[in-house]
Amino acid sequence: MQGKKRMINNGGDMILFDENRKVFKIDTPDSSYIMGIVDGYLGHIYYGKRIEGSDMSYLLRTEEYPFYPSKCMGEKAGFLDFFPMEYPCGNIGDFRESCLDIENSSGQCGSELKYKSYNIFKGKKELEGLPATWGQDCETLEIVLYDEVLNLEVILSYSIFDGIDAIAKSVRIVNKGTQDLLIKKALSSSITMEQKKYKVLTLSGSWARERKQQYQQIGYGSVVNESKRGISSHQQHPFSAVVSENIDQCNGEVYGMHFVYSGNFISKVELDQFDNIRAVMGIHPDNFSWQLNENESFQTPEVVLVYSDKGLGHMTRTLHSLYRKHLIRSKWKDCQRPVLINNWEATYFDFDTDKILKIAKEASECGIEMFVLDDGWFGERNDCDRSLGDWVVNENKLSGGLDYLVKEINKLGMKFGIWFEPEMVSPDSNIYREHPEWALAIENREPTQARNQLVLDFSRPEVLDYVYNSISAVLKSANIEYIKWDMNRPLTDTGSSYLPKKQQGEIMHRHVLGLYSLQEKLIKEFPDLLIENCASGGARFDPGMLYYSPQIWCSDDTDAIERLSIQEGTQLLYPLSTIGAHVSASPNHIVGRNTSFDLRGCVALAGTFGYELDITKLADEEKQQICEQIKRYKKYSRLIQQGDYYRIASYYDNKEYDCLEIMDDSGKNGIINYTQVMAKANVHSRRIYLQGLDENAYYRIENKVYSGSALMFAGFLIQPIHGDFAAKIFEITKE
Ligand code: GLA
Repeated sequence: MQGKKRMINNGGDMILFDENRKVFKIDTPDSSYIMGIVDGYLGHIYYGKRIEGSDMSYLLRTEEYPFYPSKCMGEKAGFLDFFPMEYPCGNIGDFRESCLDIENSSGQCGSELKYKSYNIFKGKKELEGLPATWGQDCETLEIVLYDEVLNLEVILSYSIFDGIDAIAKSVRIVNKGTQDLLIKKALSSSITMEQKKYKVLTLSGSWARERKQQYQQIGYGSVVNESKRGISSHQQHPFSAVVSENIDQCNGEVYGMHFVYSGNFISKVELDQFDNIRAVMGIHPDNFSWQLNENESFQTPEVVLVYSDKGLGHMTRTLHSLYRKHLIRSKWKDCQRPVLINNWEATYFDFDTDKILKIAKEASECGIEMFVLDDGWFGERNDCDRSLGDWVVNENKLSGGLDYLVKEINKLGMKFGIWFEPEMVSPDSNIYREHPEWALAIENREPTQARNQLVLDFSRPEVLDYVYNSISAVLKSANIEYIKWDMNRPLTDTGSSYLPKKQQGEIMHRHVLGLYSLQEKLIKEFPDLLIENCASGGARFDPGMLYYSPQIWCSDDTDAIERLSIQEGTQLLYPLSTIGAHVSASPNHIVGRNTSFDLRGCVALAGTFGYELDITKLADEEKQQICEQIKRYKKYSRLIQQGDYYRIASYYDNKEYDCLEIMDDSGKNGIINYTQVMAKANVHSRRIYLQGLDENAYYRIENKVYSGSALMFAGFLIQPIHGDFAAKIFEITKE
């Protein structure tokens, strides 16, 4: 391997630099990512199915007109307008979407990056202040690019993980010169591919309707997926995939891009005049800028890329495995999570110690392991109009205080958890009256309220200190083992009376960094604490938050039927162990639908299981069902947490039934979770096709033995069920 540097690990994944041809090659088990240097520019050559050892630099078309600048300076614009730049810059001749826009101290924008050096090493560096994938069994390539005029260093980082088909990319930008620079845009990733009738898959929605799958055609121009709300949002998810025409669970190509970040994002898929696609992702440049003074650096968040030529299912299982092994850090990551009961839908704001203890007592008798006290326990919070920020227990409601309540709940053998919304302040609160300057606001303008609340200015260090000390004081006041960290409005009026004029564009990003720093501090000080993130249901369900909390509340819509597609969209990217799913009352509080207790239990089983209802109002027979459901959850909890997930049928697509399969890591045991949404007259049994089995092995389902190939290719028959909204769980056991 003369002239080449190779790093090989056990999985056969490797990063290679061919010194002679100036080509970088990153191999995961089934994909290759290739870049080449031409005239000092770093070009993106290929990303796709794994390719063995060949020289791919011909794909950069450097022999075709217009030649590169050293051969044809007079057509530099023509070159920049077509060259597949690995990290494109704006305003010098590449008119497609740029990743980097930098202003010099005279306010002029433009940069040009040339290759400087590279480094390949075992492991992966932390991203300062940001969530990111981690691990020992991984390796990293860093490529250093340089702008000689700005004295700007740009370090592109690529990490791969043993046996996993994903690449984690991020960028660090360092001002090595003496002039102050202004970053106006710094995206995290760009990839290029030839258009082959690809389309774009995104997840979109609204409050209580999160993460519905949407396909869009790619025409000349761009398909944009973005959030400008300061959170990753209910409306658009920080995920886009370029997928082939024939895409399904088992077939077709997928280029998945998932952003490990919890604020504003943009992902743009652009088809250019020469039928190439440039797909970029990063922090949204709107309402963003970052002052970069001498010797300062800016770290972009990470994008996780997954290429699959085996359909969506392979991307899903790749992300599940990456997030389980290399993103979530909590000590709860691989532990069975306590079955919880949350009082939000049971009481809303109307509770006192007695009522809470009655619910907790009955819950403990059914085997529920943790009580979570939701909104309304602090200040004068009897509705959502006031008191956010006054994190002091309301003893008029909770006589005896938190310590008494928690001790009583602990006596029942249950853990105790509590709700906070730390990023917010109510105008009607003591803390706001004392410090109105702590809320985000634009000079001389009344800031826009949402849910009667304002957003705290996290660029102020004293605000972060106040928030942290308030939470920590409550956690120390009683034996609190879980918190639900909520966030119930988007960011608006992003003005800070603390930051100078030139840094006002930093507020949105500083909010996210502040949020991360608070959760990081909590994890360090309370390492046993189980954190569940939440944002009006699932508005901040993103990989960034998973770095701090192993589970996230999926949606405020707890109706089992609505949940089928919300959970399906979430499962497309996230392990089931991260998805908060609770059994709630029927008729459902949001949609008014009546469903059976059994169905609600089966649907919630595909997540972190819990209850969200007034158990004191249930019939004895339903309480008995809770005991049974908890037994079943415990039986399958390891399978659900660690197993391989297969999407068998989608109610969102077929409007009739839903089905998922989970197999354990040995491939020996699994379940099929089937829901019949609408019953039909005069139908035969329904044929479903299982996935991921060994073709040559035999499996038992309900006392019958089938070959793996029969179950996957000929199908399994589900007998008609009488009635709408019915669910059934089947066990699969390898013979
Ligand atoms: C949000 C959450 C709910 C609940 C309420 C309390 O909407 O998603 O689960 O905690 O806030 O105000």
